[in-house]
Amino acid sequence: MIMRILNRDKSGTAEDSTTMLSQLPKTDDDTGSNSIALAVKGLSKIYDSIAGKVVALDNINFIVKKGEFLSIVGPSGSGKSTLLNMIGALDRPTSGHVFINGIDIFSLNDSQLATMRNNHIGFVFQSFNLINRTTVLKNVKLPSTIAGAPVSESNKRAMRILEALGIGDKASQKPFNLSGGQQQRVAIARSLVNNPTIVLADEPTGNLDTKTGDDVFEMLKTLSHKFKRTIVMVTHNPELAESTDRSILIKDGRVERDVVN
Ligand SMILES: Nc1ncnc2c1ncn2[C@@H]1O[C@H](COP(=O)(O)OP(=O)(O)OP(=O)(O)O)[C@@H](O)[C@H]1O
Ligand SMILES: [Mg+2]
Repeated sequence: MIMRILNRDKSGTAEDSTTMLSQLPKTDDDTGSNSIALAVKGLSKIYDSIAGKVVALDNINFIVKKGEFLSIVGPSGSGKSTLLNMIGALDRPTSGHVFINGIDIFSLNDSQLATMRNNHIGFVFQSFNLINRTTVLKNVKLPSTIAGAPVSESNKRAMRILEALGIGDKASQKPFNLSGGQQQRVAIARSLVNNPTIVLADEPTGNLDTKTGDDVFEMLKTLSHKFKRTIVMVTHNPELAESTDRSILIKDGRVERDVVN
């Protein structure tokens, strides 16, 4: 099947992704009474820079349902990455709250926050952010290693996801030997290894050509629609944004528009 996946250049469709991704572990996100994955309440971020104060986020409010695929769009410098970094607990806000699975993440101490980030949030970046000196497999299993999973369990989980994403045969390679699209699949695999509540992607197709970018996007879409993963994706591509469930337009650190597509 992997060969079929790798050979799917022109015929690559969402159906192929569905077949591949069906090997992923089941998410428990669609069970239980709480259907909200993420709630952002009164979120503000003011940076103190040499040039003075920069209001990057100004009272942002929205919720994201479990399994929803939300896109965030807006001009350069409008606060999109700052917002994603706050949701992903990479930085603390000046004021406001982020609830993930009902947990007020900034009420946690630094070590609890690190655990929350590792176990409940998957990150995919424009520049892949893979560790080039080690193998694809080790990159993917890193979050599960950090979470304390036994080595054999981490290996099994990482391999299963790599195979599901069609790059199982790249497990022992170093990331820099892979194409951009393959590297982004490795990053997506890493983001999924702990079966997170939410996957955050900051311009995941930004460094890829159109065809490869569309492929990566289809994979994220399949993850959301068929496998109920909650995804928040920043993009500059209006066509991709319109293909998500809902788009939020950020301007000058504020939500300017929130539309269901
Ligand atoms: N660490 C920082 N210190 C000071 N100012 C910052 C910092 N990070 C971001 N900013 C400022 O905050 C504002 C929002 O930046 P942000 O990176 O969130 O924008 P963006 O919408 O992601 O832009 P792009 O589309 O270019 O990636 C900008 O004015 C930026 O200069
Ligand atoms: Mg940005």
